Amino acid sequence: PFRIAVFASGKGSNFQALVDAQLSGALGGDICLLICDKPQAPVVELAAAANVDTFVFEPKEYASKEEYERNIAAELQQRGVELIVLAGYMRLLSPSFVEFYSGRIINIHPSLLPAFPGKDAIGQALAYGVKMTGVTVHFVDGGMDTGPVIAQKAVEIKKGDTAEVLAERIHHVEQKLYSEVVSWFAQRRISLNGRNVTIAE
Ligand code: GAR
Repeated sequence: PFRIAVFASGKGSNFQALVDAQLSGALGGDICLLICDKPQAPVVELAAAANVDTFVFEPKEYASKEEYERNIAAELQQRGVELIVLAGYMRLLSPSFVEFYSGRIINIHPSLLPAFPGKDAIGQALAYGVKMTGVTVHFVDGGMDTGPVIAQKAVEIKKGDTAEVLAERIHHVEQKLYSEVVSWFAQRRISLNGRNVTIAE
């Protein structure tokens, strides 16, 4: 099977959506590992409930990023992971890790990149006053939310939206889109050429 590792730090709604897609047969791959940098994060429980192996670590217990990433890389290699799916992993990967897995790491971000990169993209969009925002799935490169775009979906901001209401609308779109994009990878339909991403029919 096509082996997938998910990296997450929080609630895990995208992780759960990917697990559900796998169970329904729509993913076409096997989520064999969760990597989490927050031992208390709800996503850790979700992985246990789904019988997904976990590597949970406390960054501050390691001397450096390189040191915990060496442990992560060993876990990935043991399982023959082919695709790394960042799903609310709120930590930058080191340039050497990104380089090593180049073309095999994807991220989901709650805005239409290049607008509103970084933290709290939903709050940034509301504060800016845009009428339209959305979701981006992209390859990870050395920058912060700067890699080649794979897929985007627009989400309207409606009058009176609070951050919570808008976040819920965005999360709904994220969960559907991410499983779809991962299934394209499992079917080997995605190719990357410079910044140009094409999806085969
Ligand atoms: C998602 O909305 C994801 O797009 C965002 O974190 C949330 C995680 O939710 N990621 C970023 O902001 C990355 N810069 P989840 O834990 O429920 O999947």
